[in-house]
Amino acid sequence: MALRIDVITIFPEYLAPLELSLIGKARRDGLVDVQVHDLRRWTHDRHRTVDDTPLGGGAGMVMKPEPWAEAFAAVREAGRESLGEDSEPLVVFPNPAGVPFTQSTAQDWSQRDWLIFACGRYEGIDERVYEHLADGGWEVALTSLGDYVLNGGEVAVLALTEAVVRLVPGVVGNAESLVEESHSEGLLEYPLYTRPARWTDPAGVVRETPEILLSGDHGRIAAWRREQSLARTRRRRPDLLGEAGGDASR
Ligand code: ADE
Repeated sequence: MALRIDVITIFPEYLAPLELSLIGKARRDGLVDVQVHDLRRWTHDRHRTVDDTPLGGGAGMVMKPEPWAEAFAAVREAGRESLGEDSEPLVVFPNPAGVPFTQSTAQDWSQRDWLIFACGRYEGIDERVYEHLADGGWEVALTSLGDYVLNGGEVAVLALTEAVVRLVPGVVGNAESLVEESHSEGLLEYPLYTRPARWTDPAGVVRETPEILLSGDHGRIAAWRREQSLARTRRRRPDLLGEAGGDASR
């Protein structure tokens, strides 16, 4: 079954890249159904207002609850028309205060049939929206791309969508390439080489590929790659091995 992804945003144009490349093709092939919605559609004033000043004072603006509540109800209704009346979406709020997104999250989500990505902007969304969803029995996740702050959820949704959709069966032509990549087994990927096996770089340095890769001995090559993966992970991301320290420069 195709994966349905609804995105609710005040910048629908931001999601235009989802028409390109692998995801665009997956959409055209009917493997994913991506629907982008303008939150302002669910405003009712002349200025199509989605934000207001924070109660209690403070910097910036807060997204008002009413458009969000209407948006969720309408998007759920539309989704159920195509997926069935019992379908329940997972609502994802990209948020720097959320749970870190990992490859295993991507794997989990790629096996679902319905995700709704809700893009916050400004300082954030009125807290009562989350309470309203929780009380209504919606499944909700706050998800962070990493320990840094973006201006809104849109860029995060591009990343989340790409990480998830490429794992949907049939989207990546060669499924084997999903098995050996970084993070698929908790390790970083081994170094890759292609022809020419002997390359003179622009500085005149002759750079050869590791000889073992030309040996044709697939057992030894697999062992070498695993060693390389481990060494690279220990160097760059010792946390993945439960170790401290690390040097991200190589
Ligand atoms: N929105 C703003 N910053 C974010 C982050 N780091 N991850 C996910 N969503 C965000």
